[in-house]
Amino acid sequence: MTVKEILQTISKKNYEDAIWLLSFLLKKNRGELLLDSSYQLSKDEEKVWLKYWKKRVKGEPLQYITGNAPFYGEEFLVNESVLIPRPETEILVERCLKKFSNEKELKVIDIGTGSGVIAITLKQNCPGWIISASDISQKALKTAKQNADEKKCSVQFFLMSGLDSTKFKGSLDLVVSNPPYLSESVDYVEKQVLKYEPRVALFPYKKPKKAWSGDQGTWMASQLIEECLNHRVRFLLMEVSARISYKLERHWRKNTNIKRIERFSDLAGRKRFLDLEFIYG
Ligand SMILES: C[S@@+](CC[C@H](N)C(=O)[O-])C[C@H]1O[C@@H](n2cnc3c(N)ncnc32)[C@H](O)[C@@H]1O
Repeated sequence: MTVKEILQTISKKNYEDAIWLLSFLLKKNRGELLLDSSYQLSKDEEKVWLKYWKKRVKGEPLQYITGNAPFYGEEFLVNESVLIPRPETEILVERCLKKFSNEKELKVIDIGTGSGVIAITLKQNCPGWIISASDISQKALKTAKQNADEKKCSVQFFLMSGLDSTKFKGSLDLVVSNPPYLSESVDYVEKQVLKYEPRVALFPYKKPKKAWSGDQGTWMASQLIEECLNHRVRFLLMEVSARISYKLERHWRKNTNIKRIERFSDLAGRKRFLDLEFIYG
């Protein structure tokens, strides 16, 4: 089979997916693949292609099929233990870099690191920063470590829930996080996401004992603000949904240890991010 023959069998709707998979398989970019469409796949390549396409037809995300995903201009290993990094999360990273890249030795932790994209990208851009990353999922941490090793990035990893001061002892200037923030009773989640992406990455699972926790979507994000205050962190940058950022801003804005709480937007103008600065007496 040639590339051209394969593409002739693909519907218009699935065409770009086939290009993505073929490009990955044959290690060619889109242009090279199409220019050389008379390329004859070897028997082994044909076998892999058929395996990929079977998975894709069943709905498996492209990134899990190929085992890697782009983020901030780099490729990261992904698998079904980690959320597929979303392009919006690059805005969170961009904000950290814009605000703090002049600081030489910032102490930072990425809570709920998943594949490690946030922590690793920050380290790559600011090698002087002391970066830690944590997750409640052992399997996610394994993938994040693999990514850090592959990119020769020194990041310290912690298996813990939220910012647990009994496990993380050091001082912190900045906490950055894209925690799970969906609510099972309120948010619509695509079937494919529910089927393939880890549930723990989507929905906060444990309602905190503390007084205010809003609905399920706010549980972890709100607790994280509280934990930052207890740990005397200086800054917190977080990705949530517009609904959750609104609720959190309204709930937390009167706290006397919060100097500033600001919502900021994704590229579609949705105020999905929170930027907090804390002060202590
Ligand atoms: C939305 S994903 C974000 C992954 C990655 N940071 C990214 O942006 O692609 C949330 C991550 O938080 C982790 N997580 C869920 N509950 C947690 C908790 N209580 N403490 C720490 N991490 C948690 C999940 O395992 C998942 O990796």
